[in-house]
Amino acid sequence: MNDLAGKHIVLGLSGGIACYKAAELCRALVKQGATVQVVMTEAAAQFITPVTMQALSNRPVYDSQWDRREPNNMPHINLSRGADAILVAPCSADFMAKLLHGRADDLLSLMCLARPIDKVPLLLAPAMNREMWAHPATQRNMVQLAADGAHILGVGTGFQACGETGDGRMLEPPELLEDMIAFFQPKLLSGRKVLVTAGPTFEAIDPVRGMTNLSSGKMGFAIARAAREAGAEVTLVAGPVSLPTPRGVMRIDVQSARDMLQATEPQARSADIFIATAAVADWRPAAASEQKIKKDGSGRAPRLEFTENPDILATVAQSPRAKSGALFCVGFAAESHNLVANAQAKRLRKGVPLLVGNIGPATFGADDNALLLVDEEGTQEMPRARKLQLARALVAQIANRLHPHR
Ligand code: C5P
Repeated sequence: MNDLAGKHIVLGLSGGIACYKAAELCRALVKQGATVQVVMTEAAAQFITPVTMQALSNRPVYDSQWDRREPNNMPHINLSRGADAILVAPCSADFMAKLLHGRADDLLSLMCLARPIDKVPLLLAPAMNREMWAHPATQRNMVQLAADGAHILGVGTGFQACGETGDGRMLEPPELLEDMIAFFQPKLLSGRKVLVTAGPTFEAIDPVRGMTNLSSGKMGFAIARAAREAGAEVTLVAGPVSLPTPRGVMRIDVQSARDMLQATEPQARSADIFIATAAVADWRPAAASEQKIKKDGSGRAPRLEFTENPDILATVAQSPRAKSGALFCVGFAAESHNLVANAQAKRLRKGVPLLVGNIGPATFGADDNALLLVDEEGTQEMPRARKLQLARALVAQIANRLHPHR
């Protein structure tokens, strides 16, 4: 996993108890392949030592505008010029106020002001007590900082070091890492609405039993994440899976195929792209028993009758919006053999412009996959790779098909 390979990130720390999380964030950024240059304010050094940050970033830390190590004695210029981004985490209420006014009386604020504004983006991860966060001054500052071109990454909610509970915690390092990675992805789907189904469905037999399948939901969740990274507004309709929701994605949890159809159809009315990755059960027990089915001692198993489930993809693909091209539908096919022929046949049967084939048993639950894209022009292989990497490539393919003349 090298999602930040080649990126040079200046990690700024201002004073706040969330500085302890900056150590883990620094480590996570480095692990993803970034080079990290730490710049700290004097207040930040009260909370975590430059020694810790130096060891984790493997580079000397800068904490003074009077640092004589730089030959030209201008660390504020030198540090910001080569950066792909400056991330201030934690960004205190005081530091936000300083940035807002363009003050520059310490190295970090000086460097932020001196950065080439159109080349070096500034991302802020605020961290403060809930009252400080809710204060009109802070909220006003946040709006103005965004208008001045800063990217505010938002805050978390919950227990705070001061003992109070509410908004204002710094986002957790894995969340900040996900946001940083997303920040650098090309915004191929900005302004688009994407709807994804993912995971298996669960079809009840009685209150304690049911039928499901081995889909883990990982491919669909990776696609939802990749679409979000590409700037889309994403809704993810998920069957029963135990996966965290990708950052910024709206998730609707469902159980059965009929629940999934019910959740999907209204969303499809305003979506631009529908990607059906869910492994929807083809059949369900004709009548789920209201009570647990008991053994009757006869040695005979109960006889179950099945009814066919609605085909969500085919239903959506038949809608007027899909037929007019306003909604671009993408199907998946999990096959066990004859992938090309089965995927081509499925594309026609479902009536979708793009169908993505994969070998089901080889990918269920795994973190990697290999895909075969089938459209009216032919087939294209995407060799085995991490699901997130394939998802990004698929998003790019879909974006190309939406804008063929770009
Ligand atoms: O027919 P089959 O299940 O092989 O088709 C797979 C494709 O159709 C996937 O995109 C899947 O999400 C979708 N599908 C669906 N509703 C069903 C069955 C499949 O949306 N009932």
